[in-house]
Amino acid sequence: MRRLLPAFWLMLSGMCAAADFPPVSQLKSQAELPDPLVMFDGKKVTTKEQWEQERRPELKALFQHYMYGYLPAPAPVTAKVESEKSDILKGKATMRDVTLRFGPAGTPPVGVLVVMPNQREAGQKIPMWVGINFCGNHAVLDEKSISLPKSWMPKSCAGCVDNQATDAGRGTQAANWNIEMIIDRGYGIALFYYGDVDPDRPDFSDGVHPFFLKPGQKELGKHDWGSIAAWAYGTHRVIDYVLTDPAVDPKRIAVVGHSRLGKTALLAAALDERVALVIPHQAGCGGTAPSRGKIGEPVKRINDVFPHWFNDTFPEFNEQTDKLPFDQNCLVALCAPRPVLLSNAVEDSWANPNGQFDVLKSADPVYRFLEAEGLEAKDFPETGKLVNSRLGYYIREGKHSMITEDWRVFLDFADKQFGK
Ligand code: GCU
Repeated sequence: MRRLLPAFWLMLSGMCAAADFPPVSQLKSQAELPDPLVMFDGKKVTTKEQWEQERRPELKALFQHYMYGYLPAPAPVTAKVESEKSDILKGKATMRDVTLRFGPAGTPPVGVLVVMPNQREAGQKIPMWVGINFCGNHAVLDEKSISLPKSWMPKSCAGCVDNQATDAGRGTQAANWNIEMIIDRGYGIALFYYGDVDPDRPDFSDGVHPFFLKPGQKELGKHDWGSIAAWAYGTHRVIDYVLTDPAVDPKRIAVVGHSRLGKTALLAAALDERVALVIPHQAGCGGTAPSRGKIGEPVKRINDVFPHWFNDTFPEFNEQTDKLPFDQNCLVALCAPRPVLLSNAVEDSWANPNGQFDVLKSADPVYRFLEAEGLEAKDFPETGKLVNSRLGYYIREGKHSMITEDWRVFLDFADKQFGK
């Protein structure tokens, strides 16, 4: 059956069960970033059908098998609106505070904050951002009625006491999210706190993981999902919910996240075509930077310091990243022909901004192969100048952060790529 129906098999294996790939010790070394248009068995991809039906499912399975772990099959969502306020941001927007549930009984709920522009013509569909946040929905907007997350929170979040959110955190990340500007530019946004899906600590006894174990399974196996895969899965469930709103344009869903949540955003987009545009902001190693090479954060370092982010197979590549049967250019290629913007900061050398430009260059042939615009710039762009092509690039002055200037660029990119 495997022989007769490889595409079907890979599609299934990409969703739930581990595929039949060789152990890491049997993989061949390759110094260069692997060509996304060459199959695992060395065959060249020559038709669009082959890309769609064989190579894309194969790449999805490879990334899950060797790096992020397999995401479970989508679980249906149910939503409860906790509160709604139709006159926030000087009457310009309506806010909905929602509790989202999915998965087997006991799976922790995820709080979703939806903010939609009030000004729109009858029947007009709103393009949406789905944003993954670090410190809770109550932190992105200073509104008393937004529920505080009940899940574990890192102490680094403002207002966090004993690893729990408090009122003191309200609005403390407003400058990172710029919601008023997003509304003014005609977009809606749905946000969730990543810790609701899985608290960011090296422990799989909390968050979604224990509820998705197979019958009789006590702990995660070598190819099971790590935290980044769980956060990406949570992003998919939030999209399920967002798409139930008839005011939302289902063809213009953009996902954005910063740093580890940029890694999450890119994985979410690579595995789910409903994501029409993605901005993995300053995502770096394990996201938008090459795993190969010696610049920026090394694979070994990320696996040592954050052992829960990836699956338990990825550390086998710590000292031999050249054995990876893909690199992050292939994750960007999985998004083709959809727009992807890699945005960076000059002082954020840990995220390897130059390597990220190389990642785009080596994803570009897939966009061309699919007859889409790829990366228009041949050379690394000037600081502060957005390369606004389907594969976009941007680097600004400054540090690792998400600031108002970034959002101006994100919105310019989305306006052009969404044809607004
Ligand atoms: C660390 C980590 C990075 C990550 C970042 C973040 O710096 O090494 O890989 O992107 O944290 O998420 O803030």
